[in-house]
Amino acid sequence: MILKDNSFTNLTHWAFKSLIKMKKIIVTGGSGFIGSNLVNFLIKKNFYVINLDKLTYSSNKYKNKLRSKKNYKLIKLDIINRNKVIKIIRKYNPDVIFNLAAETHVDRSIDGPENFIRTNINGTFSILEALRLLNKKKISPKLVHISTDEVYGDIKTNLRSNENHKYEPSSPYSASKASADHLVKSYIRTYKLRAVISNCCNNYGPYQFPEKLIPKIISNIFNNKELPIYAKGKNSREWIHVEDHCEALFKLYLKGKNGQSYNVGSGVNLNNIDLVKKILKICKTMKIKIGKKTKIKFVKDRPGHDFRYALDSKKILRNLKWKPKIKFEVGLRNTIIWYLKNQNFLKTILKKNYEKRLGLKI
Ligand code: NAD
Ligand code: TYD
Repeated sequence: MILKDNSFTNLTHWAFKSLIKMKKIIVTGGSGFIGSNLVNFLIKKNFYVINLDKLTYSSNKYKNKLRSKKNYKLIKLDIINRNKVIKIIRKYNPDVIFNLAAETHVDRSIDGPENFIRTNINGTFSILEALRLLNKKKISPKLVHISTDEVYGDIKTNLRSNENHKYEPSSPYSASKASADHLVKSYIRTYKLRAVISNCCNNYGPYQFPEKLIPKIISNIFNNKELPIYAKGKNSREWIHVEDHCEALFKLYLKGKNGQSYNVGSGVNLNNIDLVKKILKICKTMKIKIGKKTKIKFVKDRPGHDFRYALDSKKILRNLKWKPKIKFEVGLRNTIIWYLKNQNFLKTILKKNYEKRLGLKI
């Protein structure tokens, strides 16, 4: 539910007092895949969550009971609008800002890098500047900036990148994320900003936009379509359930040491062909009908396609005592069940936004 600015006025005295006592958290990009899961997680923990989201094509408009709660507010906002960002931070004085607002699809960044530079770099800059200015007025929420394992680039088989691994991004998407990380680090060092960075591996779970591999394969199986695999399907990704990622982000808010980066990984790597076969196998055991057209199809590779990402996540495991709880097989099965039960989620998304092959026009 989108609450009006005067949303506090109709509350009883008791409800008003308890809302005032609630800790406030700003999530940018809270209508995206990870943002939706994080907002739900925080509402359940009884925080007052303010979601700043531009509501781009990848934001989720699917019904959500939790969001009708009195401790949630959606503000449609482009984070590049620094003055509005400042106003909102001043108004709510949150304990923490989780920055997830971003353009996120590698293939789209190949076709049109400009939006990625705008949101991922200039958008992060806008938030950093807002925090720098407010810091002088003694308003200094912690920033948890959400980044990715893709900033490290291709990782050789048998190696895993730790937080000191050099940044070697390959796509406009990962380069924009890497640039944002550098900006955050420079503000920490120069302006003593209270901030931490998370570099997480590939997420899967409910509410993911079907342009990404796992929901695309699930959706194509449901709709009797081919399953496109780039090149020979040998590229490898590390997969984590989005709820484990949310737990890690919460840990970073509570315990993450200011100025530090933390890798957030599961240690579970799979190549794409094995992953797609696994999804097919699970669907068969669940008696989901596999149509005649649903066959693996090897298609032209993505330009500059990173072969492998793999994180060394010992730092967060040891220092913050976080560890992923959801076994991959269980998480994957539950994700398929979620998409099965929530087929309306896919229906809320325009087909033209995810069916066309992107990233080949170079
Ligand atoms: P997503 O594309 O599903 O959601 C992004 C959200 O950001 C959308 O709701 C969109 O409307 C919003 N947004 C875009 N531009 C905006 C702007 N200028 N101002 C305000 N809001 C804007 O992405 P996601 O998968 O949920 O990723 C969230 C974050 O996590 C990103 O920073 C991404 O780089 C990072 N990350 C994602 C993964 C993954 O596997 N999905 C892994 C590691 C890190
Ligand atoms: P993706 O979900 O786009 O995430 P990222 O590239 O950011 O890791 O892709 C995951 C892997 O799956 C990647 O190696 C590209 C591959 N892929 C396919 O083989 N077919 C597809 O249709 C898509 C979307 C991705």
